[in-house]
Amino acid sequence: MRWQCGTRFRGLRPAVAPWTALLALGLPGWVLAVSATAAAVVPEQHASVAGQHPLDWLLTDRGPFHRAQEYADFMERYRQDLQDLELKYLLQKQDSRIEVHSIFISNDMRLGSWFDPSWRKRMLLTLKSNKYKPGLVHVMLALSLQICLTKNSTLEPVMAIYVNPFGGSHSESWFMPVNEGSFPDWERTNVDAAAQCQNWTITLGNRWKTFFETVHVYLRSRIKSLDDSSNETIYYEPLEMTDPSKNLGYMKINTLQVFGYSLPFDPDAIRDLILQLDYPYTQGSQDSALLQLIELRDRVNQLSPPGKVRLDLFSCLLRHRLKLANNEVGRIQSSLRAFNSKLPNPVEYETGKLCS
Ligand SMILES: *[C@@H]1O[C@H](CO)[C@@H](O)[C@H](O)[C@H]1NC(C)=O
Ligand SMILES: *[C@@H]1O[C@H](CO)[C@@H](O)[C@H](O)[C@H]1NC(C)=O
Ligand SMILES: *[C@@H]1O[C@H](CO)[C@@H](O)[C@H](O)[C@H]1NC(C)=O
Repeated sequence: MRWQCGTRFRGLRPAVAPWTALLALGLPGWVLAVSATAAAVVPEQHASVAGQHPLDWLLTDRGPFHRAQEYADFMERYRQDLQDLELKYLLQKQDSRIEVHSIFISNDMRLGSWFDPSWRKRMLLTLKSNKYKPGLVHVMLALSLQICLTKNSTLEPVMAIYVNPFGGSHSESWFMPVNEGSFPDWERTNVDAAAQCQNWTITLGNRWKTFFETVHVYLRSRIKSLDDSSNETIYYEPLEMTDPSKNLGYMKINTLQVFGYSLPFDPDAIRDLILQLDYPYTQGSQDSALLQLIELRDRVNQLSPPGKVRLDLFSCLLRHRLKLANNEVGRIQSSLRAFNSKLPNPVEYETGKLCS
């Protein structure tokens, strides 16, 4: 962690566009070194390792001050990037600068075309970063789609969202617990009463922002009806529909977009650190590599989705963005755990497996 970096962002925030603040996710400086003026990015691993202040560790999560209020306050501010109100404003304007350009894929439907909604529809947005953007990882702040129903339709769309943080198969994605606990819910705004279109937006904001490489959207629909005996809204699955006087109608998705930002990512710098575990230049360089990898692991896992335990996103990064084999990932993880347990104030936490 580099104290100076965070202080610089904090000092600059009111004067500059939010894009510079956006980049202060809190990955270590050697993964992304952001120049506040140009947002230019220079991988500076060697410089940073050599030039690191020897007492920097005092201010890390493992340093002796990690329980001090000032430190906690600082970290809180340091980890905030775009403020939620700013984000809301930009989302309302659908500002293109927070749109992450992803590829829409679906075998079940096309954007802008009416379809029969009685079967589940699968759509996904993906970035194919290993092919097109190997130097970036992506953070999702919001997801928005525009959905239309034909007139007098009794259908109600139901969405299930799964997220792959760094790639991989569907089984390596996590389910978004929309409206569970403190997790945000969809917000719907009417676009045009006549066309019966609504924008559905889920805003993750600072609290629930998350890495993403692919977002899977499963659209089902249910029939909304009022139970006259109890005045409660009840729902049917469309396939159980027997009353032909009820109009199922058609559905259409006009847009599906992810809002967020991309962060510079230097896979070679991380590979170089990993190499130091087996072939250190010196004893000191091995310790330094271990410390930096632990820091990176913790900052990546920090963006884990809600759940009983944090998901092991760092392993997903190693598997999918560095293309490491399963046993290599296991070996790196156990080296990190072993080293961490010997540090003063070790902070170790349980993680759940996401990527195989
Ligand atoms: C929609 O419902 C209204 C009132 O229930 C009815 O007058 C109208 O004909 C219906 N339109 C269609 C397209 O079914
Ligand atoms: C709905 O979404 C569309 C497309 O993303 C956007 O252009 C429009 O401004 C949004 N309208 C409202 C009312 O939010
Ligand atoms: C349903 O709601 C209406 C209007 O709110 C009310 O007049 C009626 O008594 C309610 N019926 C039942 C069964 O609760």
